[in-house]
Amino acid sequence: MSGQIARQIEELRNQLREHDYLYYVLSQPKISDKEYDDLLRRLLELENRYPQYRTDDSPTVRVSGGILEGFKTVEHRQKMLSLDNTYSFDELRDWESRVRKVSGAGEVEYVVEPKIDGLSANLGYRDGKLEVGATRGDGEKGEDVTLNVKKIRPIPLVLRGRDVPAYIEIRGEVYMERDDFERLNRQRQKQGEVLFANPRNAASGSLKLLDSALVAQRNLNFFAHSLGYHEGVDIKSQWDYLQRLRGWGVRVNPLSRVCRDIKAVIDYCASIQERRDTLTYEIDGMVVKVNDMRRQQALGSTAKSPRWAVAYKFPARQATTQVLKIRLNVGRTGVITPSAELKPVECSGVTIKAATLHNFDEIERLGVREGDRVLIERAGDVIPKIVKVVEHGSGRAPQVPRTCPVCKGRVVKEKEQDVACRCINPSCPAQLARGLLHFASRQAMNIEGMGESVVEQIVSLHMVKSIAGVFGLTSQDLSRLELFKEKKTGNLLSAIEKSKSAPLSRLIYGLGIRHVGEKAAMVLARRFGTLGALASARTQDLESIPEIGPVIAGSIVDFFSQPQTREIIRELKQYGVNLSEARVKTRVNGFTGKKVVFTGELSGFTRAQAEEQVRASGGYAVSNVSKETDYVVAGEHPGSKAQKARDMGITIIDEKQFVHMLEGA
Ligand code: IVH
Repeated sequence: MSGQIARQIEELRNQLREHDYLYYVLSQPKISDKEYDDLLRRLLELENRYPQYRTDDSPTVRVSGGILEGFKTVEHRQKMLSLDNTYSFDELRDWESRVRKVSGAGEVEYVVEPKIDGLSANLGYRDGKLEVGATRGDGEKGEDVTLNVKKIRPIPLVLRGRDVPAYIEIRGEVYMERDDFERLNRQRQKQGEVLFANPRNAASGSLKLLDSALVAQRNLNFFAHSLGYHEGVDIKSQWDYLQRLRGWGVRVNPLSRVCRDIKAVIDYCASIQERRDTLTYEIDGMVVKVNDMRRQQALGSTAKSPRWAVAYKFPARQATTQVLKIRLNVGRTGVITPSAELKPVECSGVTIKAATLHNFDEIERLGVREGDRVLIERAGDVIPKIVKVVEHGSGRAPQVPRTCPVCKGRVVKEKEQDVACRCINPSCPAQLARGLLHFASRQAMNIEGMGESVVEQIVSLHMVKSIAGVFGLTSQDLSRLELFKEKKTGNLLSAIEKSKSAPLSRLIYGLGIRHVGEKAAMVLARRFGTLGALASARTQDLESIPEIGPVIAGSIVDFFSQPQTREIIRELKQYGVNLSEARVKTRVNGFTGKKVVFTGELSGFTRAQAEEQVRASGGYAVSNVSKETDYVVAGEHPGSKAQKARDMGITIIDEKQFVHMLEGA
């Protein structure tokens, strides 16, 4: 029995390691994230049940916790050197001539790799097993971050293959992808935490967290790039080393190249420099390394850096200039975004005149005011950002506006989705265009012919003041629009007329109330019957509907409490737009008053149709199983909801029983 469990555990571990290799090294995953997680969960369950089989190189270590009080110091078995920098191709050529002179060779072959903007780590593997992970520190000794390093998915806990060395120090860069960095900062902003200035600081801060369970959530990444102390293996060149690393299942940068002479080196550096912004991670230059290891040894090192390698740094993308004015822009969703107008300055070959400031929290964080001298940086994005204030001027600190700079409507400060400040006036011209497009869209009022170009023109020509204004458009108005032929005018007018009788649910959806999607709109239309009734619903009325949570309820009440909304309703009524739901008599059957959850696929209904059937029976279609759920309808390939229902003892029915009950049987 126990042998069988041990085998099962080993088999799962091997499978997971193989999938890590396919995913991180070969970039050819064979299974979905969900399938991977399922394998990992099965392994976790077995290890929890049979703790005697736990090991510290099991893939489950990636998800386990561990709190440290501080980091111990570890000595690197071979010193971790730094790199000398060059800042132009001329300087790079000078370095290369010295290399050739010292080597006494005609041409020297190089390996050229991106210089990843992260922090270096030294990984010690004994007999293929990760034994220690350390930061660079002072080059001789670093901090022991083994527990944290084990949380970095692309770092294998065990090397693959039979030819693993007796001992090897694999060195590389721990870094964070741009997307993960942005996501982390958004989350930190929401929680009121200090933001990281760049992905490198985020990676470094994350690797030094004392709670290693948190490290696992940070999505740190890794590329191996250099070799430290090693025994039991003979490596002939840097290129040979990179290939061996791949074979051992260690991730190396796919943009590494062998270049046969300095011309090829420079061409390659230039081509990556052009593409640097298209990469998913930040690089600050290229590293050029003599390929042949014997030649490397002959060249040797200074106290600080090797003579056989050099960094070619890309031109700085920072510059200092003065903030002339802080402007407020109202986006199409009503979000008010401050931006800085700058005294024009050159920055890596481009003239910069403006910088984004994101939101008012960012202004506060930077402490920036009009007249300040600031350090700006172009980092991938077209619009540069302000890194910090270098010197304060005499300007005042900008305030969060109380009214919208465009329409003077009310402004609310919201924390969710990192939006600090939003104009909520639905008739604000900045938002009107977007609102109109949504109102006219196929899922809403379905006004054919009212696309982007038409909407933009009618807003900029002030033909409408709110979405209701659409119904007041005349053929004379439309004839003023560019590219608008008579036939089209007629078509659009009749599409507008036809939309007046759209079902109430579509109208509610079309109003563009935040968080109210098609499904919620259907529920609301059915429940309240008229737009007037919905408009005067109180929070508690709304929250008593199972499909409507507090966020949606709050948003609805907010929307209808605005005078502009009241005006829109009045106009809609005046234009004869349908404001009530055709009364459908509720069928009474086994679902009346019951809460029903669907899982899996039904053959005779789409999910939306099935849910509509439940609502038409006076029941509630809800998405999550809880103890209040009355029925779970399980179709083909049911998900975890069916299991949960089984565990909770909730009645599960299949499609046949569902149809049967609908028919009142
Ligand atoms: S080789 C002895 N290769 O740059 C040479 N370093 O400024 C060791 N870095 O400390 C470094 N990408 O952390 C090498 N492809 C790469 C690199 C790289 C980033 C970092 C590394 C090093 C720093 C020197």
